[in-house]
Amino acid sequence: MSKLKPLQSVRGMNDILPDRTPYWRYLESSFQSVVSAYGYHEVRLPLVEFTHLFSRTIGEETDIVAKEMYTFEDRNGDSLTLRPEGTAGCVRMGIQHHLFRHQIQRFWYLGPMFRHERPQKGRYRQFFQCGVEAFGSQNAAMDAEIIALSYRFWQTLQLDSFFHLQLNNLGTPAARMKYRQKLIDYFCRYESELDKESQHRLYTNPLRLLDSKNPRLVDLIATAPRLEDDLETDSKRYFDELEQHLSRLKIPYVINPHLVRGLDYYGLTVFEWVTDSLGTQGTVCAGGRYDNLIQQLGGPPTPAVGFAMGLERLVLCLEKIRYCAFSPTLYFILIGQEALQKGLLWAEKVRDEIKGVSIEIDVSNGSVKSQFKHANKSGARWACIIAEEELANNTLSVKDLRQQQGQQMMSIEQLLSFIKDQIDIPKTSDF
Ligand code: HAM
Repeated sequence: MSKLKPLQSVRGMNDILPDRTPYWRYLESSFQSVVSAYGYHEVRLPLVEFTHLFSRTIGEETDIVAKEMYTFEDRNGDSLTLRPEGTAGCVRMGIQHHLFRHQIQRFWYLGPMFRHERPQKGRYRQFFQCGVEAFGSQNAAMDAEIIALSYRFWQTLQLDSFFHLQLNNLGTPAARMKYRQKLIDYFCRYESELDKESQHRLYTNPLRLLDSKNPRLVDLIATAPRLEDDLETDSKRYFDELEQHLSRLKIPYVINPHLVRGLDYYGLTVFEWVTDSLGTQGTVCAGGRYDNLIQQLGGPPTPAVGFAMGLERLVLCLEKIRYCAFSPTLYFILIGQEALQKGLLWAEKVRDEIKGVSIEIDVSNGSVKSQFKHANKSGARWACIIAEEELANNTLSVKDLRQQQGQQMMSIEQLLSFIKDQIDIPKTSDF
């Protein structure tokens, strides 16, 4: 009989175990407070969309659409795809629900995305993004706002010194068209020096040649023509304005003329926040302007700008600078069946009276020593012990586990006022 294969998650799709979730909750709740500070509204979008939504938005010739989508036929014969990113769905939602009529809309979202990439540290097949999309404004102040929002998020996380901002101006479709031809002419002269992927890109998506990771192409790329030379006056003025906003907001940035992004919908502003501390997967947040996309998909002319961040990459960075853990406020050590019954009742009473308190009850029926061991491991601030003596007096003994001081015997009412006096109950957002 053949041996059963051990159960495994799908490659590149990871479990997030309880010792890691406090980092995620910290990131998510910090992101939610920052986006609220800028008046952004949450949207929750389907994980699955019709495949053509992504090919029409992200672009047929992009890596995402050409190689990385999880696409399948459903029982009706429709081609559906697990969303590889959030912008397309957000735009579809806005058109479908007529949200784009002459108004500014600011949205944020958070959730899993799916791309069939080669998994490595910081790159997964299921990964989480949080992002913002701002619709209806053609003003460079909107680009500045979302960049300021991302910067404030790094400051909140105390990661600002690890990340730096790169910006580029992709201009109008007409300027890019002209530039595209110049790039083809230039790289054609060196076609035999290009790797296979770059040769393919030369005719399908020549701008992407500029962010090739092949070290042999560095010199060739450095001397390639620059889009800057083809930009029209209005695009230049637009970008100047953005630079002035960023300078006034004191947000440091560098211009990277080779920043082109891997999705086709961008024009004018593109940006990436990059860190050196994650090896090759150093982009933690990326976005830009996509003024033509909504109209291209049949919606009203609606300028738009947005970004998305990869949460796994942010967790990897956060782990380097801080420790996040969830620990209960109280740990109940209960010796014997009668103590267990009382402990269950009293824990409910404490939860009724003190909002936000967290209590872990020891139901192991173990010895005092082993229950203390569990209490210490849980990270709880106080242990509450109910054993023979406490049962006889209708009390419990409270021991401070952080300062390892002696025990204090008290009634349940005394415990309630003791805790109310002593603690600053952690909000879920503090985990
Ligand atoms: P993107 O550059 O494809 O842009 O992804 C944004 C971020 O998601 C990346 O910078 C990275 O942090 C994270 N990310 C992407 N792929 C993976 C992966 N396989 N594993 C882990 N993290 C990953 C977009 O998705 C655009 N929708 C951003 C945007 C929003 N532009 C305008 N609005």
